[in-house]
Amino acid sequence: MIQTIELMVVKEVIPIEIQPGTILSINTKEVTSHTHGFHKYPAKFIPHIPKWAIGKYLNGSGNRTILDPFCGSGTTLVEGLLAGHNVIGLDVDPLSSLITKVKTTPIDSKILNEVINWLTRSIKQTKKGEFEPECKTIEHWFSRNAINKLSIIRTLINQVLKEFGSSKEFKDIQYLLLICFSSIIRRVSNADNESQKTYVSHTKIKEPEEVYSVFFPQLELFVERLKTYFHLVNTKLATKIICTSSTESIDIKLKGENIDLAVTSPPYIKAIDYIYNQMVELFWIGDLLGLESQAKQNKKKKGYIGTKYIHKVEFKDYTPYNTMLGIDKLDKKLQQIYDSDKKNGHKHSFVTYKYFADMEKHFSEMAKCLSEGTPYVMVVGDSSVSDIYFATSDFLVEIAERNGFKIRNKWGYKIKNRYMRFDRKGRGGLIEIDWVLEFIRN
Ligand SMILES: C[S@@+](CC[C@H](N)C(=O)[O-])C[C@H]1O[C@@H](n2cnc3c(N)ncnc32)[C@H](O)[C@@H]1O
Repeated sequence: MIQTIELMVVKEVIPIEIQPGTILSINTKEVTSHTHGFHKYPAKFIPHIPKWAIGKYLNGSGNRTILDPFCGSGTTLVEGLLAGHNVIGLDVDPLSSLITKVKTTPIDSKILNEVINWLTRSIKQTKKGEFEPECKTIEHWFSRNAINKLSIIRTLINQVLKEFGSSKEFKDIQYLLLICFSSIIRRVSNADNESQKTYVSHTKIKEPEEVYSVFFPQLELFVERLKTYFHLVNTKLATKIICTSSTESIDIKLKGENIDLAVTSPPYIKAIDYIYNQMVELFWIGDLLGLESQAKQNKKKKGYIGTKYIHKVEFKDYTPYNTMLGIDKLDKKLQQIYDSDKKNGHKHSFVTYKYFADMEKHFSEMAKCLSEGTPYVMVVGDSSVSDIYFATSDFLVEIAERNGFKIRNKWGYKIKNRYMRFDRKGRGGLIEIDWVLEFIRN
């Protein structure tokens, strides 16, 4: 067990070797460089972490393969390509997969500019769009003016392939335009900009930004950032993004890829409801992700690790006394939740049990894909459930170790001056320190 705690303040660069138990205080403003800042995403990790892991474990060699099995908005992939490696990202969330794709796909700037000029001209000439979100309460979320303008943009993005042809190049441009469009939606809506849950605050009244005055500069930013990013990246490197769960058949999905390093940050216990977080965006692009209706969204929510979207019938037969994980301290905590929280204890105990059971499936899958000696770096925070503290990181170490991994180091970090749109506080309770677990496949 790692016990020494040492506080160390660092600026932009994390030292390669870190003493076990050290807590770094990372002072950074640099989280939106390159294509990192294209789209908000809850619980993003700072680019410094994958950059550090790549520097430590793949230093001196290029053209290796990095996997992030919970890739979210693609931070690891963006850094992996920059460092000269092939990258693979898996995530169950369809919007995250599209964001990652756009951040890591090179586009010819001349052709992109041609499409953007057409789009800009067409927007100015169009009075009314055809696209209508499948939402009866849309006027609660947006002003009439915003609805009209968003509808015009979305209608015209739909026409790109008809206007220019449906080759891969134009499909990639269409994806880029969709993510650029999606990235401004929260800002122009009535919903609070910073909150992880999507809601219209009646106490903190928001003045939404005007659609075109945000969209056009955002397009310029995308063009500029992509150009400078791909100036630094070898476009021959391979990028693979798969929208899928990381708890089942990862080896089949990876089709024998040789992975040299895995870096990730999985969800936390009682994780963020990613789909709820993306609600206003999904009104406008959900149809392209199979998430246009509430029913489809609710069905999808069940596949996320840490989801609280669980019906009573699913846990009616569960108790922490008849179903255990076989880790004494953890099983006792699950019983404590069950016994002490009269209102939600049964459900919370099950949600927490399921979180660890799913993470166990994940480690056992990863063990099939990584060969002996391959490093796996995981960032995770501890949480509290029903006011009971869970040292999630320690329990994950135990679970990983019984599934073919060996822990080599554990250290932590806090972030100062962060700019994340959605910060990392408040997920499932107590999360102040993110723990970095350095495993090796044994
Ligand atoms: C903490 S976030 C990762 C954020 C990422 N590091 C970034 O910088 O954007 C965790 C991710 O796990 C994904 N996830 C949840 N359950 C999953 C599952 N069963 N399989 C794959 N991904 C899952 C969520 O959709 C979310 O994107």
